[in-house]
Amino acid sequence: MERKPRGHVKPTRSVSSNRWMHEHVTDPYVQEARKRGYRSRAAFKILEIDQKARLLRRGMLVVDLGAAPGGWSQVVAQRIGGGEHGGGRVVAVDLLDMAGLPGVDFVRADFSTDAGLAEVARRLGPGRRADLVLSDMAPNISGIGAADQARSIGLAELALDFARRFLKPDGALVVKVFQGQGFPEFLKQMRASFHDVKSHKPKASRDRSAEVFLVGRQLREDSVESTE
Ligand SMILES: C[S@@+](CC[C@H](N)C(=O)[O-])C[C@H]1O[C@@H](n2cnc3c(N)ncnc32)[C@H](O)[C@@H]1O
Repeated sequence: MERKPRGHVKPTRSVSSNRWMHEHVTDPYVQEARKRGYRSRAAFKILEIDQKARLLRRGMLVVDLGAAPGGWSQVVAQRIGGGEHGGGRVVAVDLLDMAGLPGVDFVRADFSTDAGLAEVARRLGPGRRADLVLSDMAPNISGIGAADQARSIGLAELALDFARRFLKPDGALVVKVFQGQGFPEFLKQMRASFHDVKSHKPKASRDRSAEVFLVGRQLREDSVESTE
């Protein structure tokens, strides 16, 4: 018979959410993000990727897909001089609301809908293409592994399609993707679209997470699509 300790109380939180809470409280990136006033620990991921890939420059027009709560937009806008005279601009989109940031033009929309895509395109400006497209989009995890993986690959494909239509030919795309079913095919699509594709696993990305960030640069000529 199973023995229960005296005074056993049914846990109110699952083991995984307790683990998440413990990790969150002790995580050095969470603590450092708090110290620096960053909106999320995720900010360190794009900073690390930029350190290696040297993507961000003053004056750039950047699109941030799946931006809330705003860690990436915040540090990217700082780097490109967002909100300053002659500085750059970030067009950010998310399903969730996000508090304002200098130099960031936020769209609350579902990027997978035609209306969401059209609004992001409109905010770029007529006929304008971005210097850099970022996607940290991730689906709400349902717990059904295969379905979650398929939805995450679907979001990465949306980001790639967007880049083919709205990225400058010499621009770059940073896209989060989860390794698993559909990843090799997505990597193939990236290689077919860009001359240069590299994979990054920043230290700030948890080891047990299957996420990696692919950086594609220099769109291949036959991959540049019309913005129409
Ligand atoms: C990991 S979070 C992004 C964190 C962000 N990069 C930061 O630094 O704060 C992923 C985001 O993708 C958003 N997302 C997922 N699917 C989306 C969709 N179809 N359209 C817009 N945003 C989406 C989620 O709402 C979520 O806020």
